[in-house]
Amino acid sequence: MSLETLKPQITTIISSENTSVNEKLTQVCEVLQNHIDYYNWVGFYFANEAERTLHLKAFAGEPTDHTVIPFGKGICGQVAESNANFVVPDVKAQDNYIACSITVKSEIVIPLFKNGKNIGQIDIDSHTIDPFSEEDERFLEWVNKRVSEIL
Ligand code: SME
Repeated sequence: MSLETLKPQITTIISSENTSVNEKLTQVCEVLQNHIDYYNWVGFYFANEAERTLHLKAFAGEPTDHTVIPFGKGICGQVAESNANFVVPDVKAQDNYIACSITVKSEIVIPLFKNGKNIGQIDIDSHTIDPFSEEDERFLEWVNKRVSEIL
């Protein structure tokens, strides 16, 4: 499944009426997880600036214990501080990493900006080693832009 072909589905979810923001976020996670074979867990975390923590708001895949992540901890927490994409081809090579499951081999985290501010992120875990390319980064930046329009 090519990433580009999913854009119309994402746009439809984002612009649908009578659907809550939380439900839309969940549907976006489900579309990505269902259609891209190396996207095995997809979630959105959002920042609580006062507490300096990230909070899981929507996801598709196995439930995780890591629903709250302090800034600076793990891949997600580092992106909360760096404001930059973080692509991890092999999680075993990372010291500052929070393991969710032994089946996870790689991860990509892309910050989500609203009015120029890093307010959260999309986090994707994969059971495949080194599956993410620049195409994933550009596509997920696009997804986050669409999501920022409803926040
Ligand atoms: N692995 C992440 C934690 C979140 S789980 O992948 C759902 C990290 O190191 O930040």
